[in-house]
Order: sequence, then structure tokens, then C-alpha cells
Amino acid sequence: MPSMGFSFPKENPSSLLAWPLMEILAVHHPLVAHKLTALRDVNTDSPTFRRLADELVTLLAYEATRDVRVSPVTVDTPLQPAQGVRLSRPAPLVVPILRAGLGMLDGMTRLIPTAEVGFLGMVRDEDSLKAQTYATRLPDDLAGRQCYVLDPMLATGGTLVAAIQLLFDRGARDVTAITLLAAPEGLATVESAFPAETPIRIVTAAVDERLNENGYIIPGLGDAGDRLYGVV
Ligand code: URA
Repeated sequence: MPSMGFSFPKENPSSLLAWPLMEILAVHHPLVAHKLTALRDVNTDSPTFRRLADELVTLLAYEATRDVRVSPVTVDTPLQPAQGVRLSRPAPLVVPILRAGLGMLDGMTRLIPTAEVGFLGMVRDEDSLKAQTYATRLPDDLAGRQCYVLDPMLATGGTLVAAIQLLFDRGARDVTAITLLAAPEGLATVESAFPAETPIRIVTAAVDERLNENGYIIPGLGDAGDRLYGVV
């Protein structure tokens, strides 16, 4: 069956920021704003932070998957046949970046339970702020796959660039990153890292002001991994 093509929602009330080569969707919705505000709050404890992050990802995933590929099907209702759609094969690939991206996985797979899940283990060197990859678990061939990368904080952009490059190296060309927060510096880094003909989509709850000298997003929410899992 041919896939039905849906385009990314240009007319969506959320803002598609004017970044020339990248589609950036900052989702404007009262529930997104409410949950993000509670995540920012330094008084929010880890269990509550985990729950809120999970809920927020589901809301962001709803927007991020507007162009997920579906194929037409006919089903029998109790009364008569009806036209509908099913998710196309191959299933989308969801790739959380360990450690903090793991806190986003359930929120994503709740919407697409048939998604396959790859893993990337990456750590940011706190001196150089460069990403180091310590684990890769991905299908060898990602040609034609819709890929959704999960990383809560798009800060310098180094980790996301390295992750997307690993997907591109395996043939992926349709990559959407879902983040809780993004910094303008990180968005610029990701945009300049990839050619115009392979645009990356970024879906985020908000684009914050800036990075501080330690590469933290301001005002941000602190260290997402620590807030999800404690300081380990
Ligand atoms: N990683 C985080 O967890 N928080 C930031 O603000 C930046 C990077």
C-alpha cells in the first residue's frame, strides 16, 4: 500500500520559528506551559519531575508525529466497511539519548507502541562540552525510516549533532528531535551541521534565552538527568 503523505503543520497555532533550514516547532499549549513551569521549579522533587516529563513528552510527541507515515486500510465496523489508516511499515524508530532521554521514552511509546527503540549512550564532557558516545544500539539500515531522537535539553547542540550524524551514517534522512527545552545557540549549531536538503525537525516545549558559561540553559530547569534520576 502506498503511504499517505502529511506535511508538517505550517498552520499549527504553535510557532514554527523562522530558522531558514530547520523546522522548529515550539508547542504553545496551556498544558505544555503548565507542566514545563512545574519542571522548572527547583522545589519539584524527582518522582514528580519524572511524571511531568513523561506527560509533557506525550504532548510534544502528539505534535512531533503529525507527519508520521500511515497507509490506507479498510476495516469492518459492526455495520459496514470503513476507510481508515494504519501506521506504515517499517515502524518509526525512537532513539532516546542516555541517560536523560530515557525519561522521555515511555511518554513517546505511549503514543506509538509499535515503534522500535534504538539507544545511544552519550555523555557531555563538562570541560570541552563535547559529546562522547559510549554506547550505540541502532539498526544497521535506517534508509526510509522515520526517526525520533529524544533528548530533554538542546543546549550547545553537540550531543544532538553527534546523534543525528550517527543516524545519517546509517541512511536516515527523516529525523525529528523532541526536546523539553532548547537554547538558541544549540538550534544554530544543529542547523549549521547538516545540509539544507536534509532538514532536521525540532519539536520543543520552549526556546529559552541563552546558555550560561557552563553550557546550561538559562533559565532552563537545571540538569535534566540529575532531576530525573538523582545525582549519580
Ligand atoms: N543539560 C542539562 O541537563 N541541562 C542544561 O541546562 C544543559 C544541558
